[in-house]
Amino acid sequence: MSDSQKYIDDNIDAFQEQLFDLLRIPSVSTNPTRKPDVLKAAEFLIDQLKKIGLDDVTLHKTKGHPIITAQKITDDSKPTVLIYGHYDVQPPDPEELWDTPPFEPTVKNGRVYARGASDDKGQSFTHIKSVESFLKTGTDLPVNVKFILEGEEEIGSPNLIPFIEENKDLLECDMVLISDTAMFGEDQPSITYGLRGLAYMEIHVTGPNRDLHSGVYGGAVENPVNVLTEIIAQLKDKDGVIQIEGFYDDVEPMTPEMREAYKKLPHDDEPYKKDLQLEALHGEKGYSTLERASARPTLDVNGIWGGYQKAGAKTVLPGKAGAKVSMRLVPDQDPEKIAELFEKHVKSLAPDTVTVDVVPHHGGHPVVIDLNYYGLKAAAQAFEDVYEKNVLFAREGGSIPIVADFKKILGVNSILMGFGLTRDALHSPNESFSLKDFHRGIKTSARFFEILPDFKE
Ligand code: BES
Ligand code: ZN
Repeated sequence: MSDSQKYIDDNIDAFQEQLFDLLRIPSVSTNPTRKPDVLKAAEFLIDQLKKIGLDDVTLHKTKGHPIITAQKITDDSKPTVLIYGHYDVQPPDPEELWDTPPFEPTVKNGRVYARGASDDKGQSFTHIKSVESFLKTGTDLPVNVKFILEGEEEIGSPNLIPFIEENKDLLECDMVLISDTAMFGEDQPSITYGLRGLAYMEIHVTGPNRDLHSGVYGGAVENPVNVLTEIIAQLKDKDGVIQIEGFYDDVEPMTPEMREAYKKLPHDDEPYKKDLQLEALHGEKGYSTLERASARPTLDVNGIWGGYQKAGAKTVLPGKAGAKVSMRLVPDQDPEKIAELFEKHVKSLAPDTVTVDVVPHHGGHPVVIDLNYYGLKAAAQAFEDVYEKNVLFAREGGSIPIVADFKKILGVNSILMGFGLTRDALHSPNESFSLKDFHRGIKTSARFFEILPDFKE
């Protein structure tokens, strides 16, 4: 065993305690009252990066939350790996559904429960500890490393794209390494080679200038909630096919080879349904569950409001209604084009009895990474060395919009070396992360650095 791998085994308890300290900071990026906590998380990481011996550790202020960079360049001839991660987290809501408080990390059955445990504090922290295992043992780091850690991933990385554009030299690298995805299953290492893109929209329907008595006015005045639900109901047909004109124009059809590869992945709908306590699944006709959840585009209502929402009944004809709608995109759909098509389509469905406004939120491009890329092969070997199991290659349905920008702006591929699991409950109550995978994740990252130079073409 190398000194670096031994150092990781010897220090894993301390690493866990440090991760728990990071998890105690409620760095919810979307909540303005949490801004000081997001900064606190950034400062915690700055301190960590300095302590492990990295150079040029810098906190860059932005209009939103800070971006952190750091590096260790030892030899220009070595490959340079840019490690990306995010230290912001989703809101813990609904908090009452957590079994233990979201910002008090609690260990149960070998898993740590806390918001951000998996997405993405636990996963991204693995690489900091992996780099530490070289620097603290005086072992030659076989690669140059750079870090870029942001506090706005969960809100669409609004300040990261301009930052990358303005700091191309600082971020110059051969590849990006990211741990912010899931493995295919427990003890089943896998590499994600595709992510969906995103177009996130809001629909606002405005009717009368105030909420009305539903008995006095009902029947004579259009109800915005009724209109909104009718519009939403027309966005997909019964076969799960999205009805927005032009929506599928740029969708790359699945080739027979792609479909064969999907069939080979170990998946069974029965335990999948059981886990969600569902009698039946739903999705686009003609596609399997895995295809629907990663290779095909979607449209989903994420939130809806209007009228009386509290306990009991109130007779009211609401003056306003609204909904948040997300569309997950696949190559070669363009988020801006899809947002325009969505707006045009929704407006075409609006009756003249109400006003319908469409507001776009953040978006992101889909990505698929070439399976022949040498970085992916090295990552697969690193996983196999640590997990002692063959690696699976799979596309995933979530989005990390910056991956497409790394390719576009820096011209490099990203290696999605996820250590999470779908059961980690990302974005849900009781998020958790396996401490065994935290440990194996650090070792896999270190192993990747050890062997990457041998794979370089
Ligand atoms: N870690 C997730 C993305 C992810 C999850 C990828 C599971 C693959 C599998 C990331 O933090 C995330 O939640 N991204 C957002 C992006 C959005 C806010 C722009 C998402 O996918 O909803
Ligand atoms: Zn997330």
